Amino acid sequence: LKIAVLVSGGGSNLQSIIDMADEIGCSIELVVADRGCYGLERAAEHGIEGVLLDRKVYKKNLSEMLDEVLRDRVDLIVLAGFLSILDENITNRWKGRIINIHPSLLPKFGGPGMYGMNIHRAVVEAGERESGCTVHYVDAGVDTGEIIFQERVEVKPNDTPEDLQKRVLTLEHRLLPQAIKNIAMAH
Ligand code: GRF
Repeated sequence: LKIAVLVSGGGSNLQSIIDMADEIGCSIELVVADRGCYGLERAAEHGIEGVLLDRKVYKKNLSEMLDEVLRDRVDLIVLAGFLSILDENITNRWKGRIINIHPSLLPKFGGPGMYGMNIHRAVVEAGERESGCTVHYVDAGVDTGEIIFQERVEVKPNDTPEDLQKRVLTLEHRLLPQAIKNIAMAH
């Protein structure tokens, strides 16, 4: 299965896919970032083509440019800590071939503005007893596509958002590769 991984940050989810690519049965054809980020460095370190489509340059044409770059090159687009919202044209054209990982139990704590530490802060402040992460297909909405996998973690009474983020991230690093593996096997 040929995949593109889209990143905006540290790329720890990308790293877990790189580490498990053979076991998953996928080949990472390229990494695309919407900003300068360590995720692009990781691609370079592993000899994987990296493409920067700066969101400040492309603005509303970012999705169009993504489609140009990815068309005919990959079977699956993996959003791994990617922060730009893809528009309906690309999510329709790639329907069923874009997945995203979100660090909460969707539909809770999802939607615009809910990303990264904001999520874990909101979960802790809401006094939730559990959280987790969700891998889902990307549709035209934000964090609203069909759910593929979801796994839970406990929220401990005196957890800080950072404690929770660490616990959830460990889970993400297992769940996303597993989801890609399942898609690769069915491909
Ligand atoms: C993390 O908040 C992760 O939960 C989410 O995107 C953020 C960055 O992840 N999926 P990564 O280290 O760039 O993969």
